[in-house]
Amino acid sequence: MLEVNQLQKSFHDEIVLQDISFSGQPGQVIHISGENGSGKSTIFKIIARILKADSGEIHYDSETTIGALIENPGYLEFETGLTNLSFLAKLNHNEDLEKIRRLMADFGLDPDNKRAVSKYSLGMRQKLGIIQAIMEDQNIVLLDEPTRGLDRASLNHFVELVQQLKDENKLVIIASHDFQAGMPYDKTYRLIDGVLQSEE
Ligand SMILES: Nc1ncnc2c1ncn2[C@@H]1O[C@H](COP(=O)(O)OP(=O)(O)OP(=O)(O)O)[C@@H](O)[C@H]1O
Ligand SMILES: [Mg+2]
Repeated sequence: MLEVNQLQKSFHDEIVLQDISFSGQPGQVIHISGENGSGKSTIFKIIARILKADSGEIHYDSETTIGALIENPGYLEFETGLTNLSFLAKLNHNEDLEKIRRLMADFGLDPDNKRAVSKYSLGMRQKLGIIQAIMEDQNIVLLDEPTRGLDRASLNHFVELVQQLKDENKLVIIASHDFQAGMPYDKTYRLIDGVLQSEE
């Protein structure tokens, strides 16, 4: 369902991605680990078509939808979390307010809390980003350092959420610098010197 073939990407004369190839199927959870600056976010940006690779190809079905949390997404800082999420869903004509409210509540965010996003903690912002990547039932879900700032209970909920996405036949790809125990990973890779090394 997703095929990534021989991606190469350089910034100026720094080669970041040398030869990135992997594939993913519905219902799989893939982990990509790598040090700071190894190119994890760059891979996600290329898959989400925010950035163009210098060479290589990405294939997925034309009806595939992609949800992504990459780095630090921007929000309407003076609006509430619920307003922000419903606004983003509306942009895609895909707003399911009940679902958004449920995803928020399940993650420990009160959808009726009037607090502006500018007053959110790091973990609370991360939760908005994760919800945004899944709230429209996207088929491929890219999560870049999703557990940053999450407390223990939220981390447990996140593991459950990923298992649910897997059960719903989504393809989930998670990037982080370290390995998160308890995750239902089908494949794990380490990104070293611009190449993905399989860690079976
Ligand atoms: N727009 C850009 N212009 C120039 N260099 C860039 C750009 N984006 C990324 N880079 C460089 O590409 C390399 C990979 O960056 P990337 O953000 O993909 O790493 P990462 O693995 O996500 O790191 P981190 O774990 O810190 O998030 C870094 O050396 C970075 O400086
Ligand atoms: Mg990154």
